[in-house]
Amino acid sequence: MAETGYIEEPKRFAPKDPPKLNPPRDEPIRVEDLAKCDGTDSSYPTYVAIMGTVFDVSSNTAYSPKNPYNVFAGRDASRALAQSSLKPEDCRPEWQDLPEKEKGVLKDWYTFFSKRYNIVGKVQL
Ligand code: HEM
Repeated sequence: MAETGYIEEPKRFAPKDPPKLNPPRDEPIRVEDLAKCDGTDSSYPTYVAIMGTVFDVSSNTAYSPKNPYNVFAGRDASRALAQSSLKPEDCRPEWQDLPEKEKGVLKDWYTFFSKRYNIVGKVQL
């Protein structure tokens, strides 16, 4: 790696085989309804929210029950993603108080998810 620093790639976090995504929806989703989408009930999709934006991650078994990333499902997990944490207590929406570096990590995750998963709504405040 050159000492001149980080060089941004044009296709940052793009998947190798990019899925065809739907136009993002901004439907309000209540926290209680988001909680039902944690993968435990197969009649619901599996959702992960980041900074209030809800992604449908049903296509990826990484978020299914018993898999480690299920901890992010059914909630806004911004803080844990920012802090690279898998602790359930960190899987919560508050991120504004975090240091800039962690906010950067969080924004990178947002980019990662937005290139892979449909945006189905916004967490209702
Ligand atoms: C020993 C530590 C870890 C290992 C070996 C590991 C391994 C992996 C691997 C192999 C992938 C798949 C990458 C790909 O699809 O290209 C992945 C994805 C991911 N990891 Fe980890 N990981 C670790 C720790 C963590 C931690 C601490 C977090 C907390 C933020 C995390 C969050 C994620 C997320 C959100 C994805 C994206 C899954 C997706 O939607 O494709 N990982 N990890």
